[in-house]
This record gives sequence, C-alpha cells and structure tokens, in this order.
Amino acid sequence: MAEPKTVTITDNATGKSVDYTILEGTHGAPVIDMQRLAADFGYFCHDPGYTTTSSCRSAITFIDGNKGELLYRGYPIEQLAQESNYLEVCYLLLYGKLPDQTEWESFNRAVRQHTMVHEGLRRFMNGYRHDAHPMGMLVGIVGALSTYYHDSLDIQDPEHRELSALRIIAKMPSIAADCYKYSIGQPYMYPINSLGYVENFLQMMFAVRAEPYVPNPVAVRALELMLILHADHEQNASTSTVRLAGSSGANPFACIAAGIATLWGPAHGGANEAVIRMLNEIGDARHIRKFVDRAKDKDDPFRLMGFGHRVYKNFDPRAKIIRQACHDLLNDLDSSHSNQPLFEIALELEQIALKDDYFIQRKLYPNVDFYSGIILSALGIPLSMFTVLFAMARSVGWIAQWMEMLVDKEQRIGRPQQLYVGAARRDYVAMDDRG
Ligand code: SDX
Repeated sequence: MAEPKTVTITDNATGKSVDYTILEGTHGAPVIDMQRLAADFGYFCHDPGYTTTSSCRSAITFIDGNKGELLYRGYPIEQLAQESNYLEVCYLLLYGKLPDQTEWESFNRAVRQHTMVHEGLRRFMNGYRHDAHPMGMLVGIVGALSTYYHDSLDIQDPEHRELSALRIIAKMPSIAADCYKYSIGQPYMYPINSLGYVENFLQMMFAVRAEPYVPNPVAVRALELMLILHADHEQNASTSTVRLAGSSGANPFACIAAGIATLWGPAHGGANEAVIRMLNEIGDARHIRKFVDRAKDKDDPFRLMGFGHRVYKNFDPRAKIIRQACHDLLNDLDSSHSNQPLFEIALELEQIALKDDYFIQRKLYPNVDFYSGIILSALGIPLSMFTVLFAMARSVGWIAQWMEMLVDKEQRIGRPQQLYVGAARRDYVAMDDRG
C-alpha cells in the first residue's frame, strides 16, 4: 500500500518539523489532517468562517465550485432534476442509493403515515401574532416537535433516528402550509395522503374547504424541481449548525430548528426573498446599472442578492436549471404573467453583472437564490414563505447529515478555538477605587 502523502510543517522559531498526513477523498481537494497541530506545536489554526477548513468526512453531497458541479450521492443534479422526484431524492440522500420498487413503495408508505401534526401544535401556532414572519413560526414549531414526539428522541437508537427523519420529511409540508394559512387567516387544511408529496403540499397551501382544488401540474413539476435543487449542499452554514447542535447530543427536532434559524439569514437561505425585494426595487432595466454600481461600492452595504457563493466560482448549476424552469413556467402559465417583468430584469441584470470586471475578478455568478424567487412568486407563493420552502426542501439534507455525523467515529462535540485579543489578566477594582 502506497505511503500516505504528507506535508511538513516547520516552526522556524524552534526548527521543529512534523509531517502531517494528506487525506484524499473520492472527488475534490485533498485535506491535511491537522488534528495533532496543537499537541505538536502548541498552535491552533486560525480560519474565520471556516473558508479553508474541512469539518467532517461526508458521503452525501459533493460540489466542484470551479466546474459548477453538484452531486447527490454521486448522481449529477442535472440528471436528478430531469429524471427523479423529491421523495426519491430524499431516499437517496438518507440511504445512499436509489430505491428499488419495493423500497420505494415502503418509503412512500412510511412518509405518508407521518404527514399529520399533533393538534396541540396548531394551538401552539395560534399563539403567534397575526403578522408573525412564517420563518419565525417555523423555527418555533419545529423546535416544539420534540415536546410532542418523545418516542423518537434517543439519538443512539438507529430506529429513533430513522423515525425522526421520516417525521421531519413528512411533517415539514404540513407545518409550512399551516404557517401560511395562519398568516392569511384561513383555516388549516389537512394532508390528503392519496396525493403525491408536492400535490399534497400545494393543496394544504392553496385549497379551501369551500371549494374543490386540483393542483396545476405545471406548478407541481416546477415545485418538485425546486425541492430537488434545494435538498442538500455539503457543509453550508445551516447544515454546519445542525451538525454542531447534533454534536452536543441535542434531539433531532432541536437541531433542525437551529438549522432553520441559520437559513433565515439574507446571506444564506433568506437571499431568495431578498432577491425579489431587490428586483422590485430596481423596478426597471434602466436602473440596473445604478444597483450594480452600488454593489461594487465598498462604502455601500448593498450587495447584489442572489450573486456570489462561498464555493461556486462558476455558475451555480442549480441557477442554470432554475433559470430555464423560470422561462418554461412563465411561458406555460401566461406570458403576460406579472412575474415576466421581474424575470426580464433578472436576465438583464445577470448579463450586465457577468460582463462587469468587479464580478468577473471575484468570480461572482448567480446562485440558486437568484431565480428561485421568480418561480415561487409565479406559483403564488408569497414572499414571506420563500425561505420556508427552502427550509422544507433542505430538511432532508439536514437530517441526512445529522444521521451521518452521529455514526461518524471521528466526530465529537464541536468546539472551535479562538485567538484571544481582549484585556490582559487584571485584578478586580472596588467601586470606590475606580477612576
Ligand atoms: C446560499 O453555502 C451554501 O452552499 C449556501 C447555499 C446552499 O444551498 O446552502 O448555496 C445557499 O446561501 C446561496 C447564497 C445566497 N446569498 C446571497 O445571494 C447573498 C449575496 N451573496 C453574498 O452575500 C456572498 O456572495 C456570499 C455570502 C454568498 C458568499 O460570501 P463569501 O464567500 O464570504 O464572499 P466574500 O464576502 O468574501 O466576498 C468576496 C468578495 C468581496 O469583495 P472584496 O472584499 O474582495 O473586494 O466579493 C464581494 C465581497 O464584497 N461580493 C459581493 C457579493 N458577494 C461577494 N459584492 C457584491 N454583491 C455580492 N452579492
């Protein structure tokens, strides 16, 4: 067996040199195993934002930021978007393989058994202010699941872990739809388990008891695509939060609630809502240049929402797929659709930004959030629900990563170091002696 590759670190102050092993994965950049650095040299690594730090071994998702490639368990996102459906992608992310017919039917049945939420949670939800942001409601309700479902909280029990995963996947659409219904003052709908996953969600969102409701198949396909594209994405901020929370032994619902809270930020999952607000503020293609110049101005906090990415230094493959789906959906629904102008501004903005040196030099391309809001808006999803949809889709990624972390022998409680730059040690001074 070939000797492992190493790098040597030498402390020039002492002349001490130590070899550190280079770990190679299936794809992507190798990593240096730095776990012994402090023991060998008394130094820690300083890496704010973990931009060059690998936090774990994972077999779930792979991104090549330079190529603009995204794989779920090795399958290219373009093929899954074209051929698969969200619930099959859930199975793939959870179990590492595409299901055979028997596995597929069993998984479908298992998910359907858990689509309803305890009635007490609806009383809980009714305590929110009428104008509460649905993401604030979602964080609270999902965290509260742990106070209802006590029979799946033993994280050391594989069956409890799997039951929690099924509950999260099955109940997120019901909870998300309840958040929407509550925010518009309409009565809650109940899941209809004879419907598919996305049809069921759309009927819980948009059906009213007084009228029959048949989901538009064009909307179903567009939303299915959105859920697939947002299902997982390596160690992004919210997934890293779920893993960190899980590393302390917290129950799965508390960990997912922590992920939802992190996703809410406009630099992360809240960007889809921020993009629409930005496109509406731009209002007309003639104003685009002014906003692009603002985004480049260091003295202006404004950033081009939906642009840039920590990993992708090329097109986010999900943005490419969603841009085409936007085009198809707006054509299918109605070319005079109110979102057509927003889509046209987005296309023009993309063209201008991609030709601008500032964006070219920094390799800033449209990311998944740049077009997703246009699709969601065209489907009648209100702005305040955009990140809720992102959280609903990403829940399977979070819970799959949480499950992987719990069986990873390398993992222990997450506890980063710091560089202390505060006051040097000093003694307490009594009030009368303070200057
Ligand atoms: C998601 O991690 C994931 O995988 C996330 C995600 C997922 O699926 O989980 O893909 C989902 O969160 C997508 C990102 C959505 N956020 C946005 O669209 C918000 C706008 N984007 C930026 O805030 C930013 O690009 C980030 C947060 C996405 C990435 O930030 P980084 O990696 O910390 O980059 P940076 O801030 O160091 O920027 C590098 C340079 C800076 O300029 P200089 O200091 O070098 O002169 O690029 C500039 C930044 O000012 N820059 C931008 C910009 N994004 C970066 N300038 C203007 N507009 C922008 N959008």
